Amino acid sequence: MEEQKRYGHFDDQHREYVITDPQTPWPWINYLGNEDFFSLISNTAGGYSFYKDAKFRRITRYRYNNVPMDNGGRYFYVKDGDTVWNPGWKPCKTPLDFYECRHGMSYTRITGRKNGVEASVLFFVPLKKWCEVQKLTLTNQSQETKSLKLFSFEEWCLWNAATDMENFQRNFSTGEVEIEGSTIYHKTEYRERRNHYAFYHVNAPIQGFDTDRETFVGLYNEFANPDAVMEGKPRNSHAHGWSPIASHYIEVTLAPGESKDFVFLLGYIENEQDEKFSAPQVINKTKAKALIAELDTTEKVDRAFDVLCTYWDALLNIYKVKTGNDKLDRMVNIWNQYQCMVTFNFSRSASFFESGVGRGMGFRDSNQDLVGFVHQIPPRARQRIIDIASTQFPDGGCYHQYQPLTKRGNNDIGGGFNDDPCWLIFGTVAYIKETGDFSILDEMVPFDNQPGSEVTLFEHLKISMDHVIKNLGPHMLPLIGRADWNDCLNLNCFSWDPNESFQTTENVSEGTKAESLMIAGLFVVTGKDYVALCKKIGKADEAERMQKAVDAMIEAVKKHGWDGEWYLRAYDFYGRKIGSNECEEAKIFIESQGWCTMAEIGAEEGMVAKSLDSCKKYLECEHGMVLNNPAFTRYIYEYGEISSYPEGYKENAGIFCHNNPWVIIGECIAGRGNDAWSHYAKILPSYVEEKYQTLHKVEPYVNCQMVAGKDAFRPGEGKNSWLTGTAAWMWYTVSEFILGIKPDYDGIRIDPCLPETAKDYTVTRKFREAEYVINIHPNGQQKGVKQITLDGNPVDGTVIPYSKGKHTVDVQM
Ligand code: BGC
Ligand code: NOJ
Repeated sequence: MEEQKRYGHFDDQHREYVITDPQTPWPWINYLGNEDFFSLISNTAGGYSFYKDAKFRRITRYRYNNVPMDNGGRYFYVKDGDTVWNPGWKPCKTPLDFYECRHGMSYTRITGRKNGVEASVLFFVPLKKWCEVQKLTLTNQSQETKSLKLFSFEEWCLWNAATDMENFQRNFSTGEVEIEGSTIYHKTEYRERRNHYAFYHVNAPIQGFDTDRETFVGLYNEFANPDAVMEGKPRNSHAHGWSPIASHYIEVTLAPGESKDFVFLLGYIENEQDEKFSAPQVINKTKAKALIAELDTTEKVDRAFDVLCTYWDALLNIYKVKTGNDKLDRMVNIWNQYQCMVTFNFSRSASFFESGVGRGMGFRDSNQDLVGFVHQIPPRARQRIIDIASTQFPDGGCYHQYQPLTKRGNNDIGGGFNDDPCWLIFGTVAYIKETGDFSILDEMVPFDNQPGSEVTLFEHLKISMDHVIKNLGPHMLPLIGRADWNDCLNLNCFSWDPNESFQTTENVSEGTKAESLMIAGLFVVTGKDYVALCKKIGKADEAERMQKAVDAMIEAVKKHGWDGEWYLRAYDFYGRKIGSNECEEAKIFIESQGWCTMAEIGAEEGMVAKSLDSCKKYLECEHGMVLNNPAFTRYIYEYGEISSYPEGYKENAGIFCHNNPWVIIGECIAGRGNDAWSHYAKILPSYVEEKYQTLHKVEPYVNCQMVAGKDAFRPGEGKNSWLTGTAAWMWYTVSEFILGIKPDYDGIRIDPCLPETAKDYTVTRKFREAEYVINIHPNGQQKGVKQITLDGNPVDGTVIPYSKGKHTVDVQM
């Protein structure tokens, strides 16, 4: 393989990815913020910020899919004589003497050097604060005194990111700002119904400012050469309508060796209705000033940064592995866990592939994201479960998405995705196993957020199971509804109108025979969990009732869901097979192989082993396992969006990384450690980094949703990075099934599944009020625990019973 160009490297000690060339093959981004205030930031400081909801409360503006890519962000312009440059290289793109971007845990540090001046900016969102800090350090590394002109730049978004992008007849007249001292306030629509404003502040006197975009940039210029900057003269413009921005102008003189810090703050404030104004038309700035006062010196900012770092230390201290394989350890200990937290926070709403206006929090997505971080912040997982369940309908169906700001179901997409209810069980069981907190089952949770409709969360779980049972098709397999996990298998859609969205168009439900084997497998897996939970809480009758339904489902799959070498994928509207050897194209699909092998359906009859072998034979390629094979080569009206994609991309035979772990877990349950590992390593970013950094294109430190499959024009190319269920599934797979540390109601189950070559390793796992240091000796075995000792005493079986305190565990396989 030809030598690949490298754009950066891992720095494990600092938990950073260090980008050393700004011209990455795609913007390589990071996320800032942990709870309410969030930002996306690229390696050239592009991106935007929002409060809670990327659609309804967008703070700064960003243009997607721009030319060039990634335009707009928080830009600092340094004018040194006639040279104008930015620490992050863009937008001026003046060649730098040194460039480095360090993406870390909820922070990014970008450093540029030019002509003896260094500008280093630390970006982060302090914990529990509604602002982004940008600490800029300017250092004169030359032998002579430097007189620099510094301009900051942010562009305000008029709050609702969707209308901001389209309603110009109104927008160009509504923009309003106030300027006071070194703070620029953005108060568009504050005069009417909004009770919030934003501000951009710097902790130094300024010698000028701009707030009107066209005045600052010039109508015929660009971010790369704004008029005001090029001339070195701010216009002191006051925006009225058009496009308000915020730019500070500061003159800085630095003696040789001298260094100066500037703390820039991008903040968000909400006021009570009766405290909105301090004088007619003048916004009440009390809270803004208080926030500024908390972060107006280098010392205060450094302290806030320490707090953030300590917070991440604690989060990453809960599950730690030491295998001696750096590529594995860094993904498990740092990046996979980090990505899980980010996907939990953002669901699928805001990335460089998601505009933040289309999708809120997904019902199934959020439940899956939960398994990725429940060990870190169980209380937030608890809240998330309640929020999600509150969007369920009384018949067990659910809104497919909800908006984080309102927590209301999203009417644009509606419901009818028949896998959705099962995921609530998946999420809730994971939460209880981690925490032992059964009380969540007694929480009163409404339907569709309607006050007065509350029933217990357990009741929600019950109707979730029932929703599947009440919606069975002619083969007693689950009806697929609008779609199952594969949003693009639209079997009841029938669309010839290119102006219709496959996702939202009216479906035909009358007379449908469309059934899903993916939901069948999911139902068996979550059904077994539900049965075990019922037994645990003394609901024996309910356990028995559901066990019967699970058994019936297993029988239905064996009878009507087996194709001879693999599990079928579905039946279409007319009851014809999908994912069968009889089909012309797409003879085999991955989802049903994953779920039915995880469910161990027909294991004794050899179905599981055959299915896993078929995955290797037909789905596996150099870069992972494709979703279906062979790819669809034409649009099939009866199948919908899946066949709309060109071969090898997305749901049409792309490597949809999300579902690779399902098969990997299937392999682990079957005890095939070598196979599990080889599938896993193919989609592990740290392995991908080394193999094909340029081809892959997207960030080498996180998984992406999709890698182009073997039928694609360019196999191996990654897309849709960051926000993907892959994060949580990779974590679940490696932490619980490969390394084999599985939380359970009464303790931790130890059941690794490893490649034969695995060496001894140690997992340190905090669990409730205990901490276990678990030393595992694989002894060349792929699976099977022979003997466990807990603090020197032999344990029966594979579960180490929970007890408070510090423990040492020794495991011989
Ligand atoms: C994509 C899916 C996605 C769906 C919903 C489709 O176009 O291919 O991956 O889940 O849209 O947004
Ligand atoms: C992305 C969606 O977020 C997820 O819910 C879905 O299952 C996959 N696409 C597959 O279609």
